[in-house]
Amino acid sequence: MILHDLVHDLAGDLVQDVAPDKKLFKKKSVSAIKVTAANKVPDLFGDIKQNLLQAPYSLPPKYFYDHRGSLLFDQICNTPEYYPTRTESKLLSRYCQHIIDSLKVHHIIELGSGTSRKTRHLFDACQMLDQYPQYWPFDVCEPMLIETAQKLMLQYDWLNIQPLEGDYSAGLAHLPKPDGHSLYVFLGSSIGNFSEAEAIDFLKEVRRHMTTGDTMLLGIDRLKDKKVLEAAYNDKQGITADFNLNVLSVLNNETDANFKLDQFSHQAIFNEDESQIEMYLRSLTDQTIHFSAIDEELNLREGEKILTEISRKYSLSGIDNLLGQAGLEVMDHFEPSNQYFSLVLAKCG
Ligand code: AVJ
Repeated sequence: MILHDLVHDLAGDLVQDVAPDKKLFKKKSVSAIKVTAANKVPDLFGDIKQNLLQAPYSLPPKYFYDHRGSLLFDQICNTPEYYPTRTESKLLSRYCQHIIDSLKVHHIIELGSGTSRKTRHLFDACQMLDQYPQYWPFDVCEPMLIETAQKLMLQYDWLNIQPLEGDYSAGLAHLPKPDGHSLYVFLGSSIGNFSEAEAIDFLKEVRRHMTTGDTMLLGIDRLKDKKVLEAAYNDKQGITADFNLNVLSVLNNETDANFKLDQFSHQAIFNEDESQIEMYLRSLTDQTIHFSAIDEELNLREGEKILTEISRKYSLSGIDNLLGQAGLEVMDHFEPSNQYFSLVLAKCG
């Protein structure tokens, strides 16, 4: 879950850079508000029993992100093949000022904020335009929320931060609803992990939370040449393969299982009919895996596959349909000239 050490180191650097006298920057204390789940979501044991023990075998992608998985995901974002992160960053750096200038934002509420790296473009724009909203990063990983908040407060001394700890897939009904206009931010094409129906339901839930004057900023990956898509999930250095296989280490650690990582191969293919990248772990032999902690086992034949992630890609009309079905109205749409990625600004329809 945690980018802990990394974030900590960066914060340390920053203190040294900005203030030789560290006492000047004594850390303001910050703590997270726990957002309780509105609906029940299964834990790892539940997910294993429901999805992994019988065919078609699958696992939700959220289990990728232990400490090592988070670091590997960061490395994926820096591979030459993985275009989404840098494309979205470029769009944000180019258009945030325009976006903030067109709105009156009192609150920025970010769903799945992580290390808030790309959100800095919004803060920079706010600073330029003398708008000083409060920031509400919402994430499952409390240590990362706190360390990120501390780091941000050093760089943006005007920024009021209230971290929110919780799982956005467990429902948004218990999110605080502060007075004034909120901008809901959901970046990185994380929405691609949902099926289309789930994505519509999720956006409807955000929509239900919004009142007049509230807006949403959404990053969505676009449909494009299959070769480009498949390359992005099969980087030459094999980092995506390590990231995918790492989920088996997570299972080994959390459930006392005995997956052997060298008995599986990474596979990522673009399913054109479904318009989604599908990532699998393919068994290289006939094998039985034991989950000692829950006293279960999984029998896999050579060639059988576990679906570990879907990443949906949207056309322009697909995006319109998604937002329309959720009751949202597109105010602005930003894309690069190659149309690889979309940033969509929307309001309640
Ligand atoms: C974080 C879900 C947007 O689907 O592209 C990257 C995750 N998986 N490479 C994506 C991911 C493999 C990523 N999201």
